Amino acid sequence: MDLIQKLLNITLIPSTFFALLLLVPPFYVLKFLSSLFKSCLNHESVAGKVALITGASSGIGEELAYEYARRGARLALVARREDRLRSVLDKALQLGSPDAMIIPADVSNIEDSQRFVAQTVNHFGQFPHLRKSRGKIVVISSAAAWCLPPRMSFYNASKAATISFFETLRAEFGPDIGITIVTPGFTKTEMTSDQLLEQMGVKTLPFAVPLESAERCAKAIVKSTCRGDMYLIEPSWTRTLMWLKWFLAAPVDWCFRFLLGKHRVIH
Ligand SMILES: NC(=O)c1ccc[n+]([C@@H]2O[C@H](COP(=O)([O-])OP(=O)(O)OC[C@H]3O[C@@H](n4cnc5c(N)ncnc54)[C@H](OP(=O)(O)O)[C@@H]3O)[C@@H](O)[C@H]2O)c1
Repeated sequence: MDLIQKLLNITLIPSTFFALLLLVPPFYVLKFLSSLFKSCLNHESVAGKVALITGASSGIGEELAYEYARRGARLALVARREDRLRSVLDKALQLGSPDAMIIPADVSNIEDSQRFVAQTVNHFGQFPHLRKSRGKIVVISSAAAWCLPPRMSFYNASKAATISFFETLRAEFGPDIGITIVTPGFTKTEMTSDQLLEQMGVKTLPFAVPLESAERCAKAIVKSTCRGDMYLIEPSWTRTLMWLKWFLAAPVDWCFRFLLGKHRVIH
């Protein structure tokens, strides 16, 4: 067995490397042409379809509700703060959603989660089985899943796990259910309020963190989902952080340590 491992180490690494050199350029040319083609076609229309949005009371979820409303989707809006959901509901109806409902619920509670799916099905009379209705799932992970900023270990780990979980589901479901995995970078929401950033030590960075608006992020998400993308990195430039992490892991690690400075130790 050890011999087989040694042989694989010697043969598989260089042969895979050369195979990638041959395959990657034509693959990316095809991918680029296919995305150009898809952009020229009319995207999927969501008018009349049902979108269930968790975390709809603020930030990216709230803006997703407005973007789906503008496109005529029917909405089930879920979060814990009922008062906030009510004002999102009013605005979504004004923006063009033909039918929308709110369901105050805590997604960390399994009974609540079963209840909001059941209430959505009862209200709209559809959405029961994603496979049958060829539905879609939009997963909000984070660039933190692969750029791993310090002082956010639980967050980073949970976001990386989210990607892994839904990539596995995607392989299991096949093409019946579209899954778009979104990795937003820093976005201006309650989550990136000064208070929270300060708690995470991000305020100690010697430069301003460039925040994207939640509205712009939500528009990109809906567009990407309608196009049927597997992944969306938003804003696009944040993919450079992923490349840095892949190709220059040690220097990136030094930079993080340097930037954290005296706030390095977590008490
Ligand atoms: N902002 C960023 O820079 C950024 C970057 C990358 C990824 N993300 C991800 O984007 C997603 C949305 O975050 P955001 O930035 O829009 O933050 P946000 O404005 O704080 O929104 C979070 C939403 O989640 C809801 N929520 C939280 N816990 C919940 C629970 N247990 N049950 C039901 N709803 C719950 C909140 O509503 P209630 O409090 O009313 O329940 C709120 O509507 C998150 O998954 C976040 O990790 C954000």
